[in-house]
Amino acid sequence: MNKETYLTEYPKHESMRENVKKDKNRLHFHMMPPTGWMNDPNGLCEFQGVNHIYFQYTPFLAGWGTKLWGHYTTKDWIHYKEEEPFLYPDEEWDRDGVYSGSAYTCEDGIHYFYTGNVKLWDKDYDYIMNGREQNTIHVFSPDGKNIAYKKLVMTNDDYPVNMSKHVRDPKIYKKDGRYYMIQGGRDAESYGCALLFCSDDLEHWKWYDTVRTAKPFGYMWECPDLFELDGQLCLICCPQGVEKKGYDYWNVHQCVCIPLDYDFTPGTWVIKTTDNFQMVDRGFDFYAPQTFEDQQGRRILIGWMGIPDADYTNPTVKKGWQHALTIPRQLHIRDGKLYQEPVKELEKLCRNGRTFSKEEFQNLELPKCAKVQIDFKDCKNMEFSISDGVKLTYMDHVLTLDLGNCGSGRTIRKVWIEELTDLTLFADTTSLELFINKGSQVFTTRVYGKQGKAGLKGQCDARIQVYEMSGYEYGRI
Ligand code: FRU
Repeated sequence: MNKETYLTEYPKHESMRENVKKDKNRLHFHMMPPTGWMNDPNGLCEFQGVNHIYFQYTPFLAGWGTKLWGHYTTKDWIHYKEEEPFLYPDEEWDRDGVYSGSAYTCEDGIHYFYTGNVKLWDKDYDYIMNGREQNTIHVFSPDGKNIAYKKLVMTNDDYPVNMSKHVRDPKIYKKDGRYYMIQGGRDAESYGCALLFCSDDLEHWKWYDTVRTAKPFGYMWECPDLFELDGQLCLICCPQGVEKKGYDYWNVHQCVCIPLDYDFTPGTWVIKTTDNFQMVDRGFDFYAPQTFEDQQGRRILIGWMGIPDADYTNPTVKKGWQHALTIPRQLHIRDGKLYQEPVKELEKLCRNGRTFSKEEFQNLELPKCAKVQIDFKDCKNMEFSISDGVKLTYMDHVLTLDLGNCGSGRTIRKVWIEELTDLTLFADTTSLELFINKGSQVFTTRVYGKQGKAGLKGQCDARIQVYEMSGYEYGRI
């Protein structure tokens, strides 16, 4: 679909848009597709005081289809503007989808790199070793909205010869005056890895290194992100095909943060152990996040509140839309561990705060859009009922999120923690985001149940604060 087709089609879908707006499952302080399907956040950046959030988008279909880049902007993370889609599959080299990519800001504009997906239909292909092109495309825009040029900078022939046709999702990292581009990949032996390319001018790229694990960690790594945070080099990526281990890796696909001791010596960089890999999120609906550094120097992460290939569902599909993005989170590394906290701007949405003791916090109907902050003292065990059938329990150092019958196929997820000190819950109609122990563990999930009563019991002291959350405002910027 090119821009002209989109602009012609768009008015025909006005009634779809109106129906979607009326859906009671719609969220209030999350970015969602205006209609249709949303997946990965793309091209995140702040340029001249405006934050740009692009996303994988199929506007007129609430399922998998040919991707455009949808676009929201915000100056304050409270007021949002829906912009016209930014990228369309309008060239031979991206005709089956403008896949995921990232932004790199300069004084005079924004550089974008993304994957142009092409499927070859003429033979009986396996779409792994053949039948697919994944082209790296460079776009420049002076303002985040208008495109000055779109250029093909690499094709599969420029990737190492031991790779399958799956190489995608470029992200830029600048170090010592040199540009590095990291891309996710699957090699010919179905071994997941990340490829590094380098360039001095953002125009000419050549393969530099491959980052992989000593033993296979999944068959494909998607959406890699390389950045330095609090003095630590980090790689976040999404491996597919990782086996469940203890309470880890229960989702169909994963998202991990790897503290990397990589020194940029070219060759092949082997990560010796996966023991220090951290799951970025332990909920049912989290995948393909992207980070960027904003103009205040904060490292902000936004994830796709959804996951591909899951066997659970979203009833919103019947209403003409599916998925959302997580609330923006500020990242930190402390003692080699990842911490995620909702950006402080969200506090401006909090209204009518009330404080309860554990005894007072019983049989309480939480607002549909709520923030709940619980500070524990001496918590041996506890059960926090969030809504009808949905609860979070802590027992023998195991924290369990149980969606009961409200998960549309989503069941339970767990984590072992030494001590439960605090939790912050953001509940938005049909989503929950739980930040545990100052954000050292996070659970993000969709939930489709009845409201029901909240309450807290167990062997613990607790102070509970409840706020109503008002929604984002759209259209004014
Ligand atoms: C991750 C992903 C990316 C790809 C995009 C396509 O969810 O599969 O690897 O670029 O989505 O929409």
